[in-house]
Amino acid sequence: MSAEILEKKKTLDLRKKHIGPSCKIFFSHDPIKIVRARGQYMYDEKGQRYLDCINNVAHVGHCHPDVVKAGAEQMELLNTNSRFLHDNLVLYAQRLQATLPNKLSVCYFVNSGSEANDLALRLALQYTGHKDIITLENAYHGHVSSLIDISPYKFHHLSDVEQNQFVHVAPSPDVYRGKYRADHPNPAKAYADDVKDIIGRVHEKGGKIAAFTAESLQSCGGQVIPPPGYFQQVAEHVRQAGGVFIADEVQVGFGRVGTHFWAFQLQGADFVPDIVTMGKPIGNGHPMSCVVTTKEVAEAFALSGMEYFNTFGGNPVSCAIGLAVLDVIVKEDLQGNALRVGQYLTELLEKQKEKHPLIGDVRGRGLFVGMELVKDRLKLTPATAEAQEVIYKLKEQYILLSADGPHRNVLKFKPPLCFTSEDADLVVEKIDHILTGAYRLPGPFLSVVLEHAVTRLACALFKRIKVCNENGHQYHSGLILNRGSGPGVPQQTKRHRR
Ligand SMILES: Cc1ncc(COP(=O)(O)O)c(C=O)c1O
Repeated sequence: MSAEILEKKKTLDLRKKHIGPSCKIFFSHDPIKIVRARGQYMYDEKGQRYLDCINNVAHVGHCHPDVVKAGAEQMELLNTNSRFLHDNLVLYAQRLQATLPNKLSVCYFVNSGSEANDLALRLALQYTGHKDIITLENAYHGHVSSLIDISPYKFHHLSDVEQNQFVHVAPSPDVYRGKYRADHPNPAKAYADDVKDIIGRVHEKGGKIAAFTAESLQSCGGQVIPPPGYFQQVAEHVRQAGGVFIADEVQVGFGRVGTHFWAFQLQGADFVPDIVTMGKPIGNGHPMSCVVTTKEVAEAFALSGMEYFNTFGGNPVSCAIGLAVLDVIVKEDLQGNALRVGQYLTELLEKQKEKHPLIGDVRGRGLFVGMELVKDRLKLTPATAEAQEVIYKLKEQYILLSADGPHRNVLKFKPPLCFTSEDADLVVEKIDHILTGAYRLPGPFLSVVLEHAVTRLACALFKRIKVCNENGHQYHSGLILNRGSGPGVPQQTKRHRR
């Protein structure tokens, strides 16, 4: 089968004509046409190989033969909905459960991270009979209306009136740039106390907390690692108020953090969420996802009397693929690899930090690593333009990396788990060259600085400028350079109140 059907320009023209303009493309001034991929590598139409440092969906490696085989074989045999008895569904549920604490024993299979989080909210509302939700600053939980409402990453430009009045935003537990930093005597307690205060204010207004929801490690929010003990204390406050704790593992689950299979387990064995949502890596690219919860929550959901039916969720092909992904993680010790290579990568980046003042912080767990670029290590002025420059320069050297966080200055590493220490050497060597060049040769960085100055002027004139990162997420910043995406298009945000 030919990997390329149309010439690149034709593909681009058709995309512009027929695909919604809010669906952004990576490197929009010079997009990459990818026609095949394997392991941690992607190939363009000319056969050029790119090292993929960003695709956490292709968890066990792009197009892993075991996963492809499992899907193809099951597709030849049967694919139908979960109203028929089928072994794949129950075997997969059993295997998945075995990776979780016992209490989390009931699964609902769905098709995307958004569907999983939307269902998690329904479960929480039904179980508690309450309506108020606490979410974290800079969080992103999905693209459907209910999740835009709890995703400050998307809605933060809305006025208070436009925001859902049942949604309350707690500070991101970011000990580098957040409200309480590493020098605070007890940041976990301080951040958890802020959640407690929010609960108090909700109660004063007559509201009741249904759920606290958070990614176990914030990803789009800037690769944030919450301080140990934070989730336990938050869970205590939230449960005391009659609410539940939802852990979003859509980006960070399935062994990526190396020491544990689930990122919420980093907080300690004494912390168990009430609901866990999964997505992206679960099917290695096949659209599937899952919500796992306790028997009590599931029973309360059933008491509504409404059947839960999902046409594609938990179909035999998805479950065969899910099983194959779990098998490969074990067979190839990918969790162990994430730990070893992740540690190695973090050490290399730490050495870069000693060398380049632009690197303010290196943080991560396993193959979930962030490197935050700042212009001033004391003031933490975000080096947004520089982060973009690094990404574009890496792309010129056939390495795919992205920047995220509220200031788009955090370089995000979340490669397929088959990433090797040689891959880590390569990407860090290139970053070193780029950053070294930044100080010696004003060329590219001079243009960045000039564009930056123009943007700041525009900001001063227009107060705020919306921009998109390469994922189409928008930010407001006085420190903007966005050669790739250009100014963002208006968001598809539903502005309503419940
Ligand atoms: C943490 C998190 N939750 C949920 C979602 C939504 O997943 P999906 O795009 O599969 O709907 C995303 C997507 O980026 C995510 O990062």
